[in-house]
Amino acid sequence: MGADASAEKAEIKEIDGGRKLLITRDGAEVEVYLFGATLTKFKTKSGKDVIWLSSTAKLDGTKAIRGGIPLVFPQFGAPIKEMAQHGFARNNTWKLRGHTDDGVILTLDNTAATHDAWKYPYKLTFTIALSSESLTTTYSVENTGTEAFPFHSLQHTYLNVADISKTTVTGLRGQRFMDKTTADPAALTIETREVIRVEQFTDRIYVGPTATGKGAQVKVSGPTMTVDVSGTSVLKGPDGPTPVNNDVVMWNPWEKNAKGMGDFDDDGYNRMLCIEPGLVSGFHLLPAGSTFDLVQELKVSEPTLSAI
Ligand code: BG6
Repeated sequence: MGADASAEKAEIKEIDGGRKLLITRDGAEVEVYLFGATLTKFKTKSGKDVIWLSSTAKLDGTKAIRGGIPLVFPQFGAPIKEMAQHGFARNNTWKLRGHTDDGVILTLDNTAATHDAWKYPYKLTFTIALSSESLTTTYSVENTGTEAFPFHSLQHTYLNVADISKTTVTGLRGQRFMDKTTADPAALTIETREVIRVEQFTDRIYVGPTATGKGAQVKVSGPTMTVDVSGTSVLKGPDGPTPVNNDVVMWNPWEKNAKGMGDFDDDGYNRMLCIEPGLVSGFHLLPAGSTFDLVQELKVSEPTLSAI
């Protein structure tokens, strides 16, 4: 993201013995753990706490962090049984590669990470850029080997909605989705609702709109803030950059499933909603030498009356 010349330069501090970075800029702040490159806090200049983190999340590197923005790669869910659910990016310790004017760049590659059931060389880069009321995170997967590999990638963003019963989601009408809570999770249904309210266990993949070249554009309106979530993807290959239509996952475990997870606050489902841009409805092939960028932008504004 280009730096805004009128804005101040980001300040970066290592905290918790270097396990976590605190980034401040333009009155906004971000915290990110090197473990999983998991961003656990984004507080805007106007004081809005945008990201949900479970109070019972394990933050000591023994388990993927419950909340924040865990990163999924190279599989979403567990289609490869020998590999951990959602892959290994969220379970390895990343390196701080450098500072930028508006944030930091973190990296992980096959020489530093540990993983099962994966043989391809790769490099992951997570670039965080913040300004007073917005956060842009760019998650890049580069194939540094000599043969193409199939992959999923996703930014598993937990939004802090404060009260799910007063939250609406718009922007998905007309989009096809797979409902993982049904007996036929691969069946495609069309979303007919302009305004979606989440009132039960929800686990859906909204499949990237075909032939539009546009990614996910979802508005989440709650009692304390409105968040516009945009997800866009581009494949940078030998023929230059090609836009890719990315998917968006919507997940809320609801009461019973929340209680079934040791690291999820029992009543936490009332305050969170995952809206997750990614490439997960099918495996994509990344040619050798190519890079896939998945850019998420969260733009935060005041709550709208209709959501309250
Ligand atoms: C969501 C998936 O993205 O992540 C759900 O759609 C899954 O199926 C959820 O349950 C949480 O996964 P995990 O591995 O962090 O418990």
